[in-house]
Amino acid sequence: MIKDEKILFSGMQATGNLTLGNYLGALKNWLALAGEYTCFYCVVDLHSITVRQDPAELRKRARNLFALYVAAGLDPEENCIYYQSHVSGHAELAWILNCFTYMGELNRMTQFKDKSAKHADNINAGLFTYPVLMAADILLYQTDVVPVGIDQMQHLELTRDIAQRFNAIYGDVFTIPEAYLGKSGAKIMSLQNPEKKMSKSDENPNASIFLLDDKDTILRKFKRAVTDSEAVIAYRDEQPGIKNLLDIYCACTGKMPEEAVAEFSGKGYGELKSAVGETVADLLAPLQKRHVELLTEKDYIDRMIKENAQKADSYALKTLRKVQKKVGFPERVR
Ligand code: TYM
Repeated sequence: MIKDEKILFSGMQATGNLTLGNYLGALKNWLALAGEYTCFYCVVDLHSITVRQDPAELRKRARNLFALYVAAGLDPEENCIYYQSHVSGHAELAWILNCFTYMGELNRMTQFKDKSAKHADNINAGLFTYPVLMAADILLYQTDVVPVGIDQMQHLELTRDIAQRFNAIYGDVFTIPEAYLGKSGAKIMSLQNPEKKMSKSDENPNASIFLLDDKDTILRKFKRAVTDSEAVIAYRDEQPGIKNLLDIYCACTGKMPEEAVAEFSGKGYGELKSAVGETVADLLAPLQKRHVELLTEKDYIDRMIKENAQKADSYALKTLRKVQKKVGFPERVR
């Protein structure tokens, strides 16, 4: 990997099955930007254990996520796709950054509040310092751009604050990263409750489209999507269900909301739902086909996991050693 280009870093948690929200909010933009940056796409498994996981299941999901990145079209020979747990620098830098992050800042994180309400029996310290590990992920690679959905913006802001604080003390150590939000799809809502984000962990399977759902399932879920009784297709906050369907349609087709509204003007909700369902199913079909093929390409995936972990590790070490030196740890004797 020759590094005169800018760096892109992003990741997804290896928990649950990826949803259309993950695809339209993040993965789609990763694909669009891949050619322009040196890219690190992380399978975020350290973060996953902030919620209790079945070990065998976590391992399986992490591998599945790795394969999904590839199936979506990210070439693992061009892009560094790797497991977070294979690069120890993430955890090491996170510890250091913990000492430059205030409790008050972490207390304000809305995801911490949401997750601790959801997992009231397991509000562990990892859940609280989760955003610091995320900051370490990003800063370890001297990242310029981080394509994410809207729900990660608060964590990105904190990352920038931590980096600026550290730089103010020790000089220019970290690149200050910028978030990248797509023009559309940055917040896809639940199909069953359009006031709520579509989420991997939603208990109602009809609320989310999963990337590996077959076409019939996709069409059925859209057919059941909660809308309203206005009987008019308009792009406005008062009709969150219809707005979400239009957002999904626009994110898949690249159209603007006005164009989509014009296209469906005078049509019924049923027609809109089936058009969106068809569009989504067509968009996901190539990814699903490639994913099935990849399940048989075990050696290839194994080789990519190994080579990319080495690449990521040697890249990460440069920043880690610099940071360790700056804070005053003794030099390593070889
Ligand atoms: P995660 O795994 O929850 O989500 C992965 C990506 O998908 C986006 N996303 C959505 N976008 C639009 N609509 C939705 N309904 C939706 N749901 C999820 C998320 O914004 C995210 O971009 N903490 C992160 C993982 C992470 C990370 C990082 C990301 C760890 N370290 C460093 C970027 C950089 C998370 O839990 O994402």
